[in-house]
Amino acid sequence: MKILGIETSCDETAAAVVTDGGRVRSNVISSQIALHRAHGGVVPELAARGHVTAIIPVVETALREAGLGRAQIDAIAVTAGPGLAGSLLVGVNVAKALAYALRRPLVPVNHLEGHVYANWLTLPGAEPVPPPRFPLVCLLVSGGHTELILMTGHGQYRHLGRTLDDAAGEAFDKGARLLGLGYPGGPAIQRAAAEGRPDAFPLPRAWLGEGFDFSFSGLKTALLRLVEPYRIAEPAADRLKTSTPFVEHRPPRFRSDLPVADLAASYQEAVVEVLAVKAVRAAAAFDAATLLLAGGVAANAALRERLDREVIERLGTDAIPVRYPPLELCTDNAAMIAGAAGFALKRGVQGGWEVDVQPRLALVGQAQR
Ligand SMILES: Nc1ncnc2c1ncn2[C@@H]1O[C@H](COP(=O)(O)OP(=O)(O)OP(=O)(O)O)[C@@H](O)[C@H]1O
Ligand SMILES: [Mg+2]
Repeated sequence: MKILGIETSCDETAAAVVTDGGRVRSNVISSQIALHRAHGGVVPELAARGHVTAIIPVVETALREAGLGRAQIDAIAVTAGPGLAGSLLVGVNVAKALAYALRRPLVPVNHLEGHVYANWLTLPGAEPVPPPRFPLVCLLVSGGHTELILMTGHGQYRHLGRTLDDAAGEAFDKGARLLGLGYPGGPAIQRAAAEGRPDAFPLPRAWLGEGFDFSFSGLKTALLRLVEPYRIAEPAADRLKTSTPFVEHRPPRFRSDLPVADLAASYQEAVVEVLAVKAVRAAAAFDAATLLLAGGVAANAALRERLDREVIERLGTDAIPVRYPPLELCTDNAAMIAGAAGFALKRGVQGGWEVDVQPRLALVGQAQR
């Protein structure tokens, strides 16, 4: 079966073709990063308009790169939520139109389930890896979500914990903004941190007892306090301008002796340590056969290394495998949507004309439906 996936939940217009065995035939992403960079983050109205102009060429390119005509597609999968309503509407309506015109099943997919299922995909030219074994604990860390999930089978999710405030990706993005490192923040912090010492600044970790919830807002405030003495004050009139939406975001200006690399490394370490320790603790508590990492922050090298190390140190060398998706499938893409749809179709999940966008869709809520 060849599934066309469409993803427009935030600021990437994406389409992909994936077989129901998880083989990626094409994976096309048109990024809007340049469009939003001037504003320091995603502007929803600009994102929706960007999807409208990009979506048809992106779908056509995905089909062409897969060497397929529209009629050779067996199902259409689309992200229904969570995400920005205006952005989701573009993908959902294009998917509905294609499903109607081609008379193919329409599969609405939860974007978060897509991130999880990126771990079941094989890129072109790569050797297929054995599928992750259940039960598994998944640490889902993205721009808008930080969740620990117990997965007992396909589509079977149990919520273990989540962030009480900022998501891990959001913490990276806000930290990068505070340090004047730009957008998107995760890769920028990772780059800056490579030159720094992770133990240079004792930043706080919100352990919240033995539970599986997270909190990153205190860490962000601690970083703000550390950079403040180095900041070069802007004239009041300029401050007023930058606080309104739709005017250009200007990064803060600092004295040249700001220890950017040490601050970035210490900040990254504080985020990564809590994520890794809690994920491994959950894997042990629920006898997981696999520990899975998913979402944009899964691209972070320090997090991958820390998880591997934490498993060995806390559970022993023969412990459970840690799995993460190929780098290019960590952040938003449509291959993960088509991949998740392959498994959903086998469970009989299919949408009709009533399929609508669900901007606040939850992963566990969907599984219990
Ligand atoms: N190397 C990296 N290190 C840390 N964070 C990273 C890295 N690469 C990307 N990120 C972060 O990942 C996030 C983007 O991930 P993703 O595309 O999954 O988020 P999203 O789709 O915006 O949110 P959600 O999936 O929750 O709706 C951003 O916050 C970005 O800073
Ligand atoms: Mg995402």
